[in-house]
Amino acid sequence: MKKIKLTDNVYWVGAVDWLTRDFHGYSTNRGTTYNAFLILDEKVTLIDTVKKPYKSELMHRIHNIIDPAKIDYLVVNHVEMDHSGCLPEVIEAIKPEKVICSKMGHKTLLQHFHRPDWPYHVVASGEEINLGARTLHFLETRMLHWPDSMFTYLKEDEILFTSDAFGEHLATSERFDDEVNQDVLMHEATKYYANILTLYSPLVTKLLAKVEEMQLPIKMLAPDHGVIWRSNPGKIIEAYARWSAHQGNGKALIIYDTMWESTRMMAKAVAEGLHEEGVEYKMLDLQVNHRSDVMTDVLESSALILGSSTLNNGMLPRMADFLMYMRGLRPTNKIGAAFGSYGWSGEAVKMMNETLKEMNITLCHQGVRVQYVPEHPQLHECVELGRTVAKALHAFMAGEKVEPAL
Ligand code: FEO
Repeated sequence: MKKIKLTDNVYWVGAVDWLTRDFHGYSTNRGTTYNAFLILDEKVTLIDTVKKPYKSELMHRIHNIIDPAKIDYLVVNHVEMDHSGCLPEVIEAIKPEKVICSKMGHKTLLQHFHRPDWPYHVVASGEEINLGARTLHFLETRMLHWPDSMFTYLKEDEILFTSDAFGEHLATSERFDDEVNQDVLMHEATKYYANILTLYSPLVTKLLAKVEEMQLPIKMLAPDHGVIWRSNPGKIIEAYARWSAHQGNGKALIIYDTMWESTRMMAKAVAEGLHEEGVEYKMLDLQVNHRSDVMTDVLESSALILGSSTLNNGMLPRMADFLMYMRGLRPTNKIGAAFGSYGWSGEAVKMMNETLKEMNITLCHQGVRVQYVPEHPQLHECVELGRTVAKALHAFMAGEKVEPAL
């Protein structure tokens, strides 16, 4: 088995999951990895573990380098089960001298595994542990991704182990950023940020500022999912700075679902209006686009135009699902509008407008509702909606204030 080295005596010993296609509601079409790292020093240290079914792969990779019983310290940067599911078995096998975690990590480990007998060693931000020739420096990163999360910095090698941050769900035979297709890599990194971290953007901004202030020399970023950024860590740091600032790209999304084609006809008319005013757009029918792929486009978009027919006095179920998901992730700095067809009650547009308002997305049109099937006059109304959004978007991107229509 090939040993995968980050630097001398620092190895990747994680597992590649080619199977997973759903990560609690996020479609992981390219699988994922659970990364763990082994540092050989006077105190041999394992950083993170893997999801429970992948314990054998982790142990096999460690065996290939050293007898696992020689591991002294086990660092738990994050307790979520994709990184800790196999902890009880790993701790039983290696019997570490210390299980190193944050204060919240300690609490969360107890709540997950109910093992007060493990040799916990709680560290706070700024604390260091000497391994012999090397030093571990810890940095708490609460809510990135859970309250227990922390980063571990290996000072002498200038490697920052970043747990969930800077990762992507991408199963590949290669382990480093310079070995994979860059478009695929950045697409999956964008999707990961959009679906996992958008909600925590203010904390990401603060963390980036803190890391800059600490002036940590960083040769590599080693996240727990996907590739290790050894050639161009700046590329993902710059992307995180942009995403966490919710900088929009000036483009519009028409996100819709339709019952008997009327709302789709309306969506196409809205698109015409955007096009007439020179706005680039994308149409995302929820019948064929997974919520997490739509969310990936939402991250960098500047206008959200929602369409749904009314069903049983509400929105179509796929729109309700998507809005619940998107609202939880709290994207900001956008304008929006809504449209939809109905038979007799027609509540969907009002409900979509309300959701957009709750999300602090400025409504630049009151919305268009059409009873049953649109004809030319109603389709013109939809074109006008598209044009209104486009004009507001030009102003919005120029930094002008957009007055809410509702
Ligand atoms: Fe990859 Fe928050 O776990």
